[in-house]
Amino acid sequence: MDWPGRFNDCTNNRLEDSEIAAIMKVSAAEKALSLAAGEPFGALYPVGPLQESFNRVLSSDLPIWGYSNTRAGVAGLCVWIAEWMRGDGLLPEWVTSDNVFITNGSQEGLSLLAECFLEPGDTILVESPSYPEALGVFRKSGVKCLGVPLLADGPDIEAMETTLAGQKVKMFYTIPTFQNPTGFTTSDEKKRKILDLAKKHDFLIIEDDPYRNLSFVGFPGGTYIHAAGDDERVIYLGSFSKIIAPGLRCGWVVSSGEVTEKLVKHRVMGTLCLPELLQNAILDFVTGIDLTRHLKRLSDTYRQHRDALLSSLREHACPEGLEITTPGGGFFLWGRVPWIRDMGRFAYFAIRNEKVAIMPGDIFFPQRGQGIDTIRLSFSKVIPSMAEEGAKRLGEALGKFRTAQEERPL
Ligand SMILES: Cc1ncc(COP(=O)(O)O)c(C=O)c1O
Repeated sequence: MDWPGRFNDCTNNRLEDSEIAAIMKVSAAEKALSLAAGEPFGALYPVGPLQESFNRVLSSDLPIWGYSNTRAGVAGLCVWIAEWMRGDGLLPEWVTSDNVFITNGSQEGLSLLAECFLEPGDTILVESPSYPEALGVFRKSGVKCLGVPLLADGPDIEAMETTLAGQKVKMFYTIPTFQNPTGFTTSDEKKRKILDLAKKHDFLIIEDDPYRNLSFVGFPGGTYIHAAGDDERVIYLGSFSKIIAPGLRCGWVVSSGEVTEKLVKHRVMGTLCLPELLQNAILDFVTGIDLTRHLKRLSDTYRQHRDALLSSLREHACPEGLEITTPGGGFFLWGRVPWIRDMGRFAYFAIRNEKVAIMPGDIFFPQRGQGIDTIRLSFSKVIPSMAEEGAKRLGEALGKFRTAQEERPL
């Protein structure tokens, strides 16, 4: 069968393989110690309380068995999210629970927003580097993703202005807090400047914020959506993946009422509705626990993981040329090894030779060939005893790779 002759243009030409998934697959096959997985630490999944929540909902008379008639999501959960975010000072006045749309994770939110707004040939701005699975969604829509260099305090405003002077862009996709992959957080001052640019050049801001509640530094700064006030051009994405469990597949979008209406229509054309069992169980869970305590436990644990990995890396891998940053929260350390000319090649070398997995930083850049000496290391799942061993293996791998690179230059 000539399948390519039957597939449409998007399927033939615009679907990308996940490079993250490819590395994770080889890492698992080689039983490597992973400093690569951007996932929560399994021991922090609140399994017992979640089981109780599911059981309570299963034995209730809530309408969990039929098609859900709340296509934007279970009302109680939308109300809870709006109140929670408002309590944290993250929302502007105009947002009510009617502006909250529940998703099957932020990834679905990104995909539905792409369906709502993007056409082949459009140009959008993204941080460089950024989250590749979002870039994949945008490219699937046929758009050009232009990178704005990301600095430790947020996007490079001058570079953004230069790009905007020569291009009409439809939106800017940003991960402002403890970014994936860098761990960088955009300052509130930069958020205001970027909002001014968004008004001047009339583009939307997609604010993807799944790591905000994993902070080691207290309040990690405000949101674009709050700072924008009455201007409804910011669309906010939140997620329960990093603070409860990604297997639940649940997140949310906060947007202008007109956008929420269209998201609902796209939802109905795609999956009809989301499971009410899940949404009610999450509502039962978040209202039944001491959420502040739960989030503090997560942040405290991840901070310990960060500190342990950082100090082991300083001892074992930095002497081999690794330069590393210290993030204020989230899951990731970002760094570079200036003498490496192809981090992708090093990643596979390290897995096969020293059984340690890292993420090459170049896969996070919107333009090919950039960040070839950069590296993302995840501390989320790395307990302190693993950190020591992982850093040692990384140091060994770097030493051996340097010799191999010198013997067989690219
Ligand atoms: C920046 C960013 N956005 C979105 C997602 C996807 O999140 P979800 O599990 O809510 O779909 C991730 C997952 O790693 C992420 O890092």
